[in-house]
Amino acid sequence: MIDYGLSDKTAVVTGGARGIGHAIATRLLEHGARCVLWDIDGKALDKVSEQLRSVGSVGSVIVDITDPEQATDALRKTEGAMGPVDILVNNAGVAGASKTLWECDPDEWRQVIDLDLFAVFLCCRAVVPQMLSRGFGRIVNIASIAGKEGNPNASHYSAAKAGVIGLTKSLGKELAQSGVLVNAVAPSVIQTEILKQCSKEHVDYMVSKIPMGRMGQAEEVAALVSWLCSRQCTFSTGAVYDVSGGRATYWLLGVGGFGWKIFESWAVSACFMRALVVCRKGLHQLKDCIRAQVCLLADDRRGSLDCLFLPKLSFF
Ligand SMILES: NC(=O)c1ccc[n+]([C@@H]2O[C@H](COP(=O)([O-])OP(=O)(O)OC[C@H]3O[C@@H](n4cnc5c(N)ncnc54)[C@H](O)[C@@H]3O)[C@@H](O)[C@H]2O)c1
Repeated sequence: MIDYGLSDKTAVVTGGARGIGHAIATRLLEHGARCVLWDIDGKALDKVSEQLRSVGSVGSVIVDITDPEQATDALRKTEGAMGPVDILVNNAGVAGASKTLWECDPDEWRQVIDLDLFAVFLCCRAVVPQMLSRGFGRIVNIASIAGKEGNPNASHYSAAKAGVIGLTKSLGKELAQSGVLVNAVAPSVIQTEILKQCSKEHVDYMVSKIPMGRMGQAEEVAALVSWLCSRQCTFSTGAVYDVSGGRATYWLLGVGGFGWKIFESWAVSACFMRALVVCRKGLHQLKDCIRAQVCLLADDRRGSLDCLFLPKLSFF
C-alpha cells in the first residue's frame, strides 16, 4: 500500500455510520489514521464502530451536524478523545424526495439545504481555526454530479450540492497558502441506502446518464477521497473531482495554460472563419446561422474558463 502519511493524523468523517462515509472511514483507518465517525444514527454508529475496531483506532460521536451547538460539542469530544482534527470529510447527506420544485414543501426543501450545505459550513467553520494554527489540514466535501449538472426532480439536492462546490472553491482560495487544502468530489449514482429516498424513475434516470452503464461503489469514492486526504495530495485545492463513470464530460478541462492554449487556437480559427462568413453573407445572415451551445463548465483555476459558448455554424 502507498504511504499516504496518515499514521499520525486524526480524521472526522460525518455520516460515517454507513454508505460512502463508512467506506471512507475504513480506507482512512487502513492508511493508519485515527478516525472519528460523526453521525445522527446511534445504533448504526455502534455497529460500525465495533466492526471497524479491528481495522484501526476508531471513535464515534452521536450528533446532528445541522445544529451549530451540537457540531461544536462534537468537535470538543473528538479533540478530547483523539487530539486535534487534521482531516475533515463532510460526507453526511440526504437526497430528499424526488419531486418537482413546485411540489416541494418549503420545510422539506430547507431540510435538504440544512444538512447538505449548511452543515458543511458549520463543520468547516468548527475545524478550520485549529487547522490554520497548526499549518496543516485536509478537508474533502462530498458534493455530487447533481451540483454540476442539476437533476430534474431534485432541485433542493442539486442546489445544495452546487453550493458545496462553490463553498469548496471559496474556502480553498481563502486557505490556499496555509497548508490546509479543501477539495470536493462529485459522485454520480453510488449504490447505498440513500437511493431508497429517491423514486425508482429518478434512480433509473440518473443511471441512464452514466456512460459506464452501472452504479458506482462506495469504495470507489473512498479511494479518491483517501488520496485527497493524504500527504500525497499537495497541489490541489478548491478543486472538484468527478467520480461518475464518465457522466460529467467537458470538451476542455480547466488545466491552466494548456486548456487556455487550446481555447486560444480555437478562438483564432473561429474568428477567421467568422470573418470570412461576414464577408460572404453579411452580419444579419450570420446571426441567423449561429446557434449557441453551452459546452463547458470547467474548474475555476487561473487561466481556465468558467463557461464557453461554442457557436455552431449551420452552413459549414
Ligand atoms: N449514493 C449516491 O448515489 C451519492 C451520489 C452523489 C453524492 N452522494 C453524497 O454522498 C454522501 C453520502 O451519501 P450515502 O450515499 O453514503 O448516504 P447514506 O444515506 O448511506 O448515509 C448518509 C449518512 O449520513 C447520516 N446523517 C443523516 N443526517 C445526519 C445529520 N443530521 N447529522 C449527522 N449525520 C447524519 C446518516 O445517518 C447516514 O449514516 C452524501 O452527502 C450524498 O449526498 C451520494
